Parts: sequence; C-alpha cells; structure tokens
Amino acid sequence: MTVLVTGATGTIGSRLVRELAKNGTDVRAAVRTVDRAAVLGDLADLAVPADLDDAAAVDRAVAGSDQVVLIAANSERQLQQELAVIDAARRHGVAHLIKLSVGGPAPDAPLALARDHYAAEQHLKGTGVPATVVRPGFLMQNLLQYTAWIEADGTWRLPFGDGAMAMIDAADVAAGLAVLVGRGTPDDDQVWTGPESIDMYEAAKQLTAATGRVVAYTDSDGESFYEQYVGDGNEPQYARDIATLYDQIVRPGWAAAVSPGLQQLLNRPLRTFSQFAADHAEDFRA
Ligand SMILES: NC(=O)c1ccc[n+]([C@@H]2O[C@H](COP(=O)([O-])OP(=O)(O)OC[C@H]3O[C@@H](n4cnc5c(N)ncnc54)[C@H](OP(=O)(O)O)[C@@H]3O)[C@@H](O)[C@H]2O)c1
Repeated sequence: MTVLVTGATGTIGSRLVRELAKNGTDVRAAVRTVDRAAVLGDLADLAVPADLDDAAAVDRAVAGSDQVVLIAANSERQLQQELAVIDAARRHGVAHLIKLSVGGPAPDAPLALARDHYAAEQHLKGTGVPATVVRPGFLMQNLLQYTAWIEADGTWRLPFGDGAMAMIDAADVAAGLAVLVGRGTPDDDQVWTGPESIDMYEAAKQLTAATGRVVAYTDSDGESFYEQYVGDGNEPQYARDIATLYDQIVRPGWAAAVSPGLQQLLNRPLRTFSQFAADHAEDFRA
C-alpha cells in the first residue's frame, strides 16, 4: 500500500508523513522542489518532486499510489492544483483519496478559499474516485505566525473579539488522517475540532502561564489586521479571507462548536491549548 501525501512539508503534511513512516506505511512525500525535501529531515529520502502547478509532475507522482492525501496550500492557484491531483488520481485508478478541506465550503461562502474547496469537492465527487473529505477547525499552529506581532509590552492585537474557537492541534489532525489511511476505504465527511472552546483572552492567559512572559490579548479590527498581514507578505486575497474569518466568523462565535468526531476516531483525549502552549513556550517567549 503506497500513499502519496501532498503538502508534505507543511504544518499538517509533515506531521502526517512522520506518523505514516512511524507506523510502517510506504509513504511518498510530494514536495514542491527537490531542495524542499530537507524540511523532512531524516525522512528526506521519502520525498518525490511534484510542483502542484505542473500537471505532468503531479501525474508522475500520483502514478503507482494506492492512496493520496490531498493537502494544498491556500492560494489563488489552489483550486487548479487540487484539480490536477484529483484528475491524476482518476487516471491512475487511486483506490482512496483523502481531501483536506475546511468547514463551511459552499459556492457562495464568504471566504474565497471555502469556495475553492467546495469546487474541488464537487469535482472530486464527479470523478467517482473513492474519497473521504476531512474538515478540520482552526489549527492552534496558526497562532505561531503571529508570535512576532506580540509587542514589547506583551500586547497582542488580533481581530477575534471574544469569539471562542475549538482550536485543534495539527498533530491530532495528522493522527486522524493516518487512521483514515490505515482504513484505506472512503468514509463519511469528517468534521474535526479540538477538545475545548476558548477565546483569545483565555489563550493569552494560558500562554502567559506557559511562557512566564505576559501576553495580553487586545481586540483589533479586521482592516488593521488585513494591512499588517499583507505587509507580512501574504497574498491579498488570502489576507482578505483570513481577516474575514477572524472578524466575521470567529468573532460572532461561529467557530466555537466542539465536535467529538476526531476524539472518537483516535479513541484518546485530544491535545489541549495549554499543552500546545507548553510545547511552544519558546516560540512565544522569543
Ligand atoms: N490552518 C488551518 O486552520 C486550516 C484549517 C482547516 C483546513 N485547512 C486547510 O489545510 C490546507 C493547508 O494545510 P497546512 O496548514 O498543512 O498548509 P501549510 O503549512 O501552508 O503547507 C502548505 C504545503 O503546500 C506546499 N505547496 C505550496 N505550493 C506548492 C506547490 N506549488 N507545489 C507543491 N507543493 C506546494 C508547501 O510547500 P513548501 O514548504 O515548499 O512551501 C507546503 O508543504 C489548506 O487547504 C487549508 O484550507 C487549514
């Protein structure tokens, strides 16, 4: 059983490759370019080059794979990239494709990325490739990109208001994906969240406890966030999506619901935010 994982150097993909290698699965880690294999460390020899913008390279990587875990980065090219992988899976008779998606995919979703995920899911259904769609909630690891935003006095401005989120650790997402790979057959759509719902005031308290450095969350507005996020080098469309997600979806509480699905699948407690804070104390302290 050979499993191709795309997005293999990313937050979820890199953890999944490690999880699969650990349990003895024959895993191929699709990387954008050969030099990116170094990100996989001691697992670099599992890498196969496949720039998702290059349909021929995608086809070569998918050939010979029994299963594919499709993880693509959010970008204006994401939909085309996902269609290339799905079409290659159909051509090569892949037995099971697991597609990483998001909550709330719809043709009229407020986020472009959720519209793209919807279009990719529809295309996937149309191909008849046996598939499982996984919708994780907000990753705890998303917050690591804002560690540099914590000001000298500990103030951390983000536009979540007091909206609670059932944040999920990428390690648990990877563990869940590994279970689905192990089953090897299509399952119902999966809605996965973390074990508890907390707002950013509580998250900041837990980070303060973990780091010994005061982190004081302060609400900001979507527009200021958008400007700063674009300033960090993010694509404008993606930055607009993320600003909308925080300010208009998380703030009013739409990301607060806890789903038991992943805990049931793993049959163990999920990682909490305080565990994540302890693991990443150094990143937040720096
Ligand atoms: N973050 C969340 O809270 C969340 C929640 C639910 C669903 N999702 C979904 O999860 C997916 C992202 O997963 P992630 O957080 O693991 O992503 P990530 O950390 O941003 O990693 C993206 C991966 O895609 C690779 N990539 C980018 N462009 C590529 C290209 N042209 N060809 C080949 N590979 C390319 C990156 O490679 P390099 O290392 O070379 O850049 C990296 O391995 C998205 O579809 C998102 O909608 C995210």
